[in-house]
Amino acid sequence: MDNWIDVGSVDELSATPLKRVTVMNREFAVSYKDGTFGVLSNTCNHAGGPLGKGRLDGEYIVCPWHNWKFNAITIRNHVLIRNKVAGFIIVGGQDNIQAVAGHMLGFFAELGFIFPQFPYIAHSRGWSHEDMEHNVEIVRNSKELAEGAEMLAKRCLELAAHLVARDEAPSSIERGGRKAHAVHL
Ligand code: FES
Repeated sequence: MDNWIDVGSVDELSATPLKRVTVMNREFAVSYKDGTFGVLSNTCNHAGGPLGKGRLDGEYIVCPWHNWKFNAITIRNHVLIRNKVAGFIIVGGQDNIQAVAGHMLGFFAELGFIFPQFPYIAHSRGWSHEDMEHNVEIVRNSKELAEGAEMLAKRCLELAAHLVARDEAPSSIERGGRKAHAVHL
């Protein structure tokens, strides 16, 4: 493979439970525990602390600055979300409700969530209502939207109960998701 980059031998990388590794000017925190490697960006989501200088706590990397914890399991082929259902209530002051729904469905689908039939209820209040802080109140005070939300929640719960009872979701899917795999054309 021409585009593989040698970041060190297994012996070298497994010698310490956590270390910082630089690859093509990007820094990663590489963990090693019980025969398994994990890789995260070295930069903590909180305030940029160096995760590679932190410590391991079970399967978590603990940031050395304020102790935030991050799961160190790599996502390649792993199904991290199993038997979980998502449904959406979308209310806004714009007319692009379906675009928002599309983004939400795409994002949650890629994480591994399952959707009930008719997975969202949506209502656009039009361009003159850019007061997002009132959106929840609108759903609460609208009999139709409240009923729609209730029925959606019911569909989600029924599907979730079915999935949990059967527990058939695999824990690993070859080439599942797009972010963990390079494409060679
Ligand atoms: S910078 Fe990592 S926990 Fe604050």
